[in-house]
Amino acid sequence: MNTDILIVGGDGDLALRKLYPALYYLTLNGCMPENTRIFGMARSHNTQDAFLTKVNEWMKDNTGSLYDEAIWLEFSKRLTFVQGDSTNPADLKRIKDTHFSDDRDLIVYLAVPPLIFGKICTALEACGLAKPSTRLVVEKPLGDSKESFTAINNELRRVFSEKQLYRIDHYLGKESVQNLLALRFANDIFEPIWNSKHIDHIQISVTETVGCGNRWDFYDQTGAMRDMIQNHLLQVLCLVCMEPPINLDADSVRTEKLKILRSLKPLTEKEIETNTVRGQYRKGVIGGKPVPGYLEEEEGGRESFTETFVALKAEINNWRWSGTPIYIRTGKRLDRRHSEIVIQFKQNRTNLFADQLTQNCANQLIIHLQPDEGIYMRVKNKKAGLDARVPLEDRSMDLSFADNAKSKKHDAYTRVLFDVIRSDQTLFVSEQEVSAAWDWVDRIIEGWKSKNKKPVGYDAGSTGPVEAIELLARDGRRWNRGE
Ligand code: BG6
Repeated sequence: MNTDILIVGGDGDLALRKLYPALYYLTLNGCMPENTRIFGMARSHNTQDAFLTKVNEWMKDNTGSLYDEAIWLEFSKRLTFVQGDSTNPADLKRIKDTHFSDDRDLIVYLAVPPLIFGKICTALEACGLAKPSTRLVVEKPLGDSKESFTAINNELRRVFSEKQLYRIDHYLGKESVQNLLALRFANDIFEPIWNSKHIDHIQISVTETVGCGNRWDFYDQTGAMRDMIQNHLLQVLCLVCMEPPINLDADSVRTEKLKILRSLKPLTEKEIETNTVRGQYRKGVIGGKPVPGYLEEEEGGRESFTETFVALKAEINNWRWSGTPIYIRTGKRLDRRHSEIVIQFKQNRTNLFADQLTQNCANQLIIHLQPDEGIYMRVKNKKAGLDARVPLEDRSMDLSFADNAKSKKHDAYTRVLFDVIRSDQTLFVSEQEVSAAWDWVDRIIEGWKSKNKKPVGYDAGSTGPVEAIELLARDGRRWNRGE
């Protein structure tokens, strides 16, 4: 396969931080198809040497022990800087005539704001680069509501078919998120108990220690609901809750995810009030260091009611899940960077050990997504020793795949770029999925607006607003705090 990858926004933050390293890791893993070439396109008048030096310095500083000079040399031979304005057909034509040919596949990665997606598509079309085989890669933010998503998407779809579009959600490229498919569908023991009859509730938490400082203006117009829940957390929820697809191809997996998004029960006005929590961080201490509050961040902080934390209770209205609450939470500047899925099983009421067991100590299956990947099953065990009764203790069966993680030489972007090169859309989000996720999220954001629901404060370095704890406490439950 002879493929050219054109990265528009080729000297920007995303390209530097994520895309070049991901493509380098592909080379490191021996997965870069031989004749692949990479073009970083930008308006700036860089020289090839200055461009390579910039990318190389970044990689040396940020890829740690995975930096290998020989691999870098191999990788850098594929990398070319091309100057031009991607919205200008004449510039694209010049690049096309100099570098591309019809017998090679073309992947165009738009690492630029969606505001100019439409113009770029028109320019690609005008200069003949929007061939039927061209693949176009885009990622969030794809709008800030269903309406704006539809407008952006229509611009893409005017030129490219759905089969040519790769909408990245980098959470789907994470090893542990993909492992959900293996866990659920390669291990038959889970299937009979993976439903509301046996599962009390599900928790999906993505907590971060970073703040919004260096992208304050962007974040302030976005907020945690649009930045994390509309995409990453709902995608994880889909993989946890979807029905088994008929096979693992893109259409089958996306069809099942879409059904979940469409069965999310719309929150009523009252539920938006009681079952959602918006928070915003105040100053505090993280890792022993004082950090500013959201409103005092150096790079923009000013009065704002944007949420940096969301917790909510969702429900899926279908045969399998009706009656099982799903608690979701995400936030910035919390006490730890930690993402996990908790499957809390029900406690048998006629339990022989009822005196020692409460709902909160029922079995749990815990899937750690990051920073450490692993799967743990919380079980009860008899405490060793002579005792008149059978005293129980909590133990974790560790199904951790830490060894896998250690041998891993790639990140989520590597995985998704690998799949774009292989033309596999399974880990990409369809237009219908994005649209359905916006339907559900828009309603909540509208509800917040109409009721003027302001975010509550929480200290940086804490576990988030106390209201998020109360959300579960009201149902007799609590967020998992196990390690
Ligand atoms: C991005 C969000 O999509 O995901 C960021 O815009 C967030 O705000 C990031 O920090 C989290 O990704 P990860 O892979 O670090 O969990």
